[in-house]
This record gives sequence, structure tokens and C-alpha cells, in this order.
Amino acid sequence: MNFVVVFVAAVVLFSLASAPARAAVTYDDKGFIINGHKKILISGSIHYPRSTPGMWPDILKRAKEGGLDVIQTYVFWNGHEPFPGKFNFEGRYDLVKFLKLAHQAGLYVHLRIGPYICGEWNYGGFPVWLRYVPGMEFRTDNKPFKVAMQRFVEKIVNIMNLEKLFEPQGGPIIMNQIENEYGPVQWDIGAPGKAYAKWFTQMAAGLNTAHVPWIVCKQEDAPPPMIDACNGFYCENFKPHHPHTPKMFTELWTAWFTAYGTPVPRRSAEDTAFSVARFIQYGGSYFNYYMYHGGTNFGRTGALFLTTSYEYDGLLDEYGLPNEPKYWHLAELHKVIKQAEPAIISSYPTVTWLGKSQQAHVYSAKTGGHCALFLSNTDQFPAKVTFWNKQYELPAWSVSIFPDCKTEAFNTARVKATTPLLRMVPTNTWFTWQSYVEYPPSVGDKDTHATDGIWEQVIMTRDASDYLWYTTDVFIASNEKFLKDGKETVLYVPSGGHELCVFVNGQLVGTAYGTLADPRLTFSKGVKLKAGVNKISLLSATVGLPNVGTHYEQWNYGIHAPVTLSGLNEGTRDLSKQKWSYRVGMKGDYLHLNTGSNSVAWAGGSHLTYKYPLTWYKSTFNAPDGNEPLTLDLGSMGKGLVWINGEAVARHWPANTARGKCGKCTYTGFYSETKCLTQCGQPSQRWYHVPRSWLKPSGNVLVVFEEWGGDPKGIKLNRRTKQYAN
Ligand code: GAL
Repeated sequence: MNFVVVFVAAVVLFSLASAPARAAVTYDDKGFIINGHKKILISGSIHYPRSTPGMWPDILKRAKEGGLDVIQTYVFWNGHEPFPGKFNFEGRYDLVKFLKLAHQAGLYVHLRIGPYICGEWNYGGFPVWLRYVPGMEFRTDNKPFKVAMQRFVEKIVNIMNLEKLFEPQGGPIIMNQIENEYGPVQWDIGAPGKAYAKWFTQMAAGLNTAHVPWIVCKQEDAPPPMIDACNGFYCENFKPHHPHTPKMFTELWTAWFTAYGTPVPRRSAEDTAFSVARFIQYGGSYFNYYMYHGGTNFGRTGALFLTTSYEYDGLLDEYGLPNEPKYWHLAELHKVIKQAEPAIISSYPTVTWLGKSQQAHVYSAKTGGHCALFLSNTDQFPAKVTFWNKQYELPAWSVSIFPDCKTEAFNTARVKATTPLLRMVPTNTWFTWQSYVEYPPSVGDKDTHATDGIWEQVIMTRDASDYLWYTTDVFIASNEKFLKDGKETVLYVPSGGHELCVFVNGQLVGTAYGTLADPRLTFSKGVKLKAGVNKISLLSATVGLPNVGTHYEQWNYGIHAPVTLSGLNEGTRDLSKQKWSYRVGMKGDYLHLNTGSNSVAWAGGSHLTYKYPLTWYKSTFNAPDGNEPLTLDLGSMGKGLVWINGEAVARHWPANTARGKCGKCTYTGFYSETKCLTQCGQPSQRWYHVPRSWLKPSGNVLVVFEEWGGDPKGIKLNRRTKQYAN
């Protein structure tokens, strides 16, 4: 070997050795270590199917500019595998594209594979077909469930590997999650729950994730190597089960979700910042805003009674625009946390009580001279404190941060952001409506199916539609006394939920519906019957399937026995056992009216039918100029479904107004989801997001199916616009 060869070999060896080899993502009790650097990680939930690929780049850019390091998302099994073995990774479900965009935006990813995800998502993320696999029991030590779960988790992990999306492979994923909040279920079901937890821990830990760790949330006794984490409004007092794992706050709720019939919760910028700052003051090393961008439950994707909007008072609004002053105030806090980071990750705090509810936490690093001071006041009144011979005025319910121990850089209760008003401004789009009225089906009609007795709804629909028709004929003899007396008979219909429209001889005689708290309903009302055959048609609708609750796969929906008619000569007649005719969905579904199909004769002009039940409406329109987000004002409508160019936009239900206690809201004191409620007496949701990317410049087709008789003439298209007050 001559000298040159030796020299070249040495240079190659040296450069190989000094190339920054990508290491596993590791951690200690002070934080995650990524590529050799320990960090406090600031994260935000952005669920990819709750916005559109067209919106993703802007949302991710705003998240990065707002100071996030990490995007947290669930993986939505029912969106990815709508039919067993038939996968969908397109459009809003293009997970790989979303993760690559996050990476390009300079963000890491916390991938919550679940596949149980809760998340106010239909059926908690499980495909409805899963319920019908023989022997199936969800989220327990059940063979069919474990087989299905493992198959899906492996599928996702394989895709991530193939696309090199784990951080040590050069991708953005720095942590995974298996299951979701399993602790409470385990408490509930005991031994099979423990066995299942042990199984999923080993199953997940055995997968090749390029040494990216697994997290579980709200599962206090999680076996290693799972890192357990806290979810809540505040988590400063959380202590991880294993002392050598970082203190994680996987869901810091930025408010709460809205259901049809409930008010809209808000959480102040001050209190959200307070929760973050308290967590960091107490040595937290990862926190995640749930939700940073809540977005939209498009079409029928939302869970039980959930509104189409999933705005959640996130830092970005439903449309992806900064929700001020929250966005800016927290972006400022993030900067200060980063300044304080070197001290926090390398030391334990010295804690001094300065009063009953006032504390000082000093993080002082042994090397590098880093020092950070937190002064907190958890009282509901301002406090004067003295620390290090200096006097401080601490606002009520606040934390002051001194990232160098000297200068106060931030106080959670002092909001300096100017607040632009986000408004809904009308566009000059006018809708010219055409209508098509459909009538309740009759026994023996096309697409109906007759059988004895009353059947559970989802067994019939498999959730392919919200709607199931139950139709039966009732014979009334001419010698019935109630006919002679001119009286009514009482029709009684009980239902497991969620909503019911009752038609007698083709006429709507009433509606009934449950609530999120109790989805069941009963209809009991006098109805006019005639001598001879009477047609009773019951339109039962589910409004999303539940996403949480022990063994929710066993819950029932729709009408159940006994359906009775009382006030007859014979007394009460039980209709439950007689022949019923069923039809899944509306006639218009079979005729593809959601696309605006001309398979029926639509009526227009002076022939337009409106304010009438079971009516389809369509109109074409041109896209308004500009690129501001668009939203439909459906305040004049009752209940139903909306499509644009065949894409399912929403379940609308503005006629379901918010019931609850709205009132004064102070930022001080513990927040809860019932604290700062808005919209009481108003529709729980009036505005429905129409993504720009679903529109063509002209000839867009808007279709609305209306159950109750709302007025389409009141529908308007608006822009979501930011305006600064003068
Ligand atoms: C948590 C759950 C989330 C979401 C949240 C409420 O318990 O993990 O998925 O459902 O509650 O919005």
C-alpha cells in the first residue's frame, strides 16, 4: 500500500466516522433527544382529513411560524380502509403527502396510529365493518380484534418505513402512539384489559419503527417501553409512571368540541398560555395543543351528534386562519420557552413558595450559565411578591417567565396581540334553486326489503347512510270508535337514536331527537288515521356513531319495540311484530341526486317547492373571486346533508339550537368544558366550510337534502375574512 492509498483510506474512514450518523430518537426524564439534541417539544394537533390537501401547506406554514416543532395527528383507519382490504390513501387521506409536507415545513411528527383514536371521529376511527367480523369485541383481549388491529398497525408502520418517514431514516416522525387513553377502559374491564394492554405493548414495540419510541396516553400503569402521557386542561402535576421518561402532555385541550344541541365552548388565550407555562414551570418536556387546527368533520365523518365544524377554539380557526389573540399570544410564549430551554433541559428547579398561591421556580444549569425563572400566581387575584430582593406584581392566574432569570419576557395574562376580527362577509353569489320532493316509500317499493319485526338500524345500514326507513301498513276498521268521535290515536315509537321523522299517509306529523348526553328518543303523539289501510313511515336517522364508551360496538340505534297505536277499540295494538318494509337511504341517493343528476325532473321558477320536508335542492354557481376561505350560511335550514360537485360537505342541522348556560367568562380559575360557553339559543352550527379546492371557476353544483322543511332561499355563500378594527 503506498502512502496515497493509505491517506485516502484514512480520509474516507475519518469522514465516515465523523458524518453525523442519525441516531435513534431517545429520551431521559428531561426530554427527547433527537439527533443528539435534547429539546422541549412544542406540538399541535392537525388532523389531515379535517382539512384538504389544498389547505395543508398554509396550515403547516402557520404552525411553523407560530413556533411549533411537532405536528400531532391520528391515523384514521375507517378513512383508509372503508371496505375490508380495500385501502384509500388519496385526497384528504393521503397520509404520506401530509407527512412529507410537514417535513418540508420543518416540522416533526407525532404519529398516533391508534388505531382506536376517539377524536370525535365516527366510531372512534374503526371501520363499521369491523363490528360485523364474527366474534368481534373492540379494545379487549379478543382474537378477531387483535388480528385486525395488528394488521392495520403493521400496514401503517410498513408504509412509513417504505417512505423513510421515521426520523432516523431522515423523515419527520419522532414518536408514535399505540391505542388511546386505554387506562380508563382497563379500570373498567379488569383482567382482559390488562392482557390486551400487555399484548399491544409487545406488538407495537416489536415493530420496526427505526427506533422511534412509542407513547401511550392516559394509561398510568403502561408497561415499558411505553412512555405514558397526560391529557387534560392542565397537567403540571402529572408524574410519568417510569421515572426515566419525559413528562409529556399529549392533549392540552384548547377548548372542547361542539355537538348539535350544545353551546360552543371557548378557552381564553390567557388560560391556555397559563396551562402551557405551568407545565413548563413544572419540568414538562413535550406539550401538544389539541387542537392546533381543529378543522371540519366533512360529510358524515363526525361522531355522535358532532357538528360538522371541529373548530375547537384551536390556534388556527376552522378555515386555517390565525385565531387571535390566541395564535399570536401563544407564538410569543413559544419564543420565550425556547429562550429558557437550555436551562430547563439541563437542571432541576429550586422551588420557593412566595405566598399561599405564589411560587418561584429557578432552573440554573451547572454549566453554560443558563438560568430561567418562573414566577406563578394561581390565585384569582393579583399578588405582590418579593423574590431575590425584588418586588413583582403578578396578575391573577398567571405565570411570568424570565428566560435569563433577570428580565421578564412574558406574562401569560398580559395579552399584547391586536385582534383582527374574523368575519363572514357575503359574496355576490346568488343561488337559483331547483327542487325535487321525495315521498316516504311504500311497502313493496323498489329498493325496499320486507321482514317481520323491528330491526336494529346499523345492522341494516352498515352506516352506508344516516337514514333507514321503517314502513308498515295499519288497517283501521270502519267501526273504530275514535273515527266516529273524530278523535286521534296515539302513535308511540321508541328509538335508540338519534333522530326520527314520522309520516302518516305521506304527511310529516312530527320529529323527535336525542342529545349527545342521551341519544335515545321517544315519539308519542296523537295522529289522524282513516278507515282502511294507513301507511306509517318512520324515517330514522343516525347522526354519527359514538367514538367512546366501553364496548360501544354493542350499542343499538334506531327504532325498537314496542311500536304501538293506542285509542283503538281493542285498546293498544303492538305493531312491532307485524311486517315492516325497510329501505336504507333516500330515493335520491339511488338516483345520485347528490351530484345534481338530471335523472329526475327538477322543478324550478314558479314551480319550485320550498319549506317542504324531504326535499332536494340544487343550484349551480361560479366560484367567487379571490382565495379567501368560503362558507355557506345555512341558518335558514332544518336538518340534512350538503354536497358540492358531488363531494360530501356537511351534515347540517342549524335547527338544533344550543341549550346550556352561556354567560360571563373569566380567564381566572380552573377551566372546564362547561365554563366559557357561547351561542346559547343560536344554532350550534350555522356556517359550513366549503373548501376552495372543491370548486371550479364556474358551473359548480350545490345540492342540499333537507329533511325538515328549511328554506333554501335563505342560503348564502360567504367569505371568511380577516379585518382589523380601526
Ligand atoms: C380525549 C381523546 C381525544 C378527544 C378528546 C376530546 O380524551 O383522547 O381523542 O376525544 O378527548 O376532544
